[in-house]
Amino acid sequence: MGQAPTHLVAVYPGSFDPITNGHLDLIERASGFVSRLVVGVLRNESKQPLFTVEERADMMRQAVAKYSNVEVDSFDGLLVEYAAAKNASLIVRGIRAVSDYEYELQMALMNRKLRPDIETVFMMASEAHSFVSSRLVKEVIKLGGDIGGLVPPFVEQRLKDRLFAHRAWKG
Ligand code: PNS
Repeated sequence: MGQAPTHLVAVYPGSFDPITNGHLDLIERASGFVSRLVVGVLRNESKQPLFTVEERADMMRQAVAKYSNVEVDSFDGLLVEYAAAKNASLIVRGIRAVSDYEYELQMALMNRKLRPDIETVFMMASEAHSFVSSRLVKEVIKLGGDIGGLVPPFVEQRLKDRLFAHRAWKG
């Protein structure tokens, strides 16, 4: 049996376009059991994100400023190589529903094949956030729905600024 590391570093990767309270709940819980949690914001221009990688990372930094063992960074290329470069032995991913599982399992197995020394750890989203996704949040706010409680207030404002700038949105 291997020796349990005392200094556990984990990477929490994602697009975070934008962050939701589901992501933040996971960060809070994960930061409680690792020594250092690196939030890796994917530089995924091909997905045509609403916010640039710098904007997404800045919002994330603002949202996690209160956690002293959480840092925010961006990456492109292979996730496992990024994790290795950060000296991380864990990749943390959140699972909301069974529908997430298949894709996540595939990625975890591929990542294990690429780097067997890096383990993927799945955390269950809390019930309150099990239906929240960045994609749905963007769709609902675009269509005039209320996203209060699903994202931090400053993120809601950033979404309104980005989506409704031309309408001089007042909130
Ligand atoms: O928030 P997302 O979009 O669900 O996050 C997906 C992410 C960043 C975990 C995934 O796209 C990823 O790992 N991208 C990096 C490229 C890579 O390593 N691909 C092979 C994964 S098996």
